[in-house]
Amino acid sequence: MPIDAREAVYTTHSPEETIARGRELAAAITPPLLVLLSGELGSGKTTLAKGIISGLGAAREEDVTSPTFTLVHVFRTASPESPAGATKVYHADLYRIESFHDLETLGLEDALAESAVLIVEWSERFTLPSDWPRIEISLEHIGPDERRITIRTP
Ligand SMILES: Nc1ncnc2c1ncn2[C@@H]1O[C@H](COP(=O)(O)OP(=O)(O)OP(=O)(O)O)[C@@H](O)[C@H]1O
Ligand SMILES: [Mg+2]
Repeated sequence: MPIDAREAVYTTHSPEETIARGRELAAAITPPLLVLLSGELGSGKTTLAKGIISGLGAAREEDVTSPTFTLVHVFRTASPESPAGATKVYHADLYRIESFHDLETLGLEDALAESAVLIVEWSERFTLPSDWPRIEISLEHIGPDERRITIRTP
């Protein structure tokens, strides 16, 4: 299958490799940016987010956990060490979001009013309007430890 210049496909064979891929992505991130993650339960969205957020210098890997209960975690990079400069990094998990009203309760409009990096799991439920640049990343199970990661910049 020919790969479009705006689409890149990778296969990883361990969580560590997915984290490393996230760290590489972080080096190319400048705010404002929407990082839209999709893929079934356990496909590796939070694992990839660990790499991105730690790669941005906004948290240690072990401090990036699934925003399962509070739905949004907020980090801040310590400029000038961060590749993205000084910025807030939002990590949201929309799995439990069932309506636009639910989404509005998360306060993500405030994030969109600033310049930040917004990483969204279950991004098909992210229906807030935004003209920010975006990258769309889908993750798929291939085997027990194998994941296909498709990165699109529309
Ligand atoms: N190559 C891989 N990349 C990422 N995770 C992997 C890989 N191989 C195995 N895993 C395991 O798969 C699981 C991925 O979990 P993770 O929380 O990142 O998924 P998720 O997509 O965020 O799920 P959820 O939809 O529940 O939020 C972890 O237990 C991880 O150890
Ligand atoms: Mg997750």
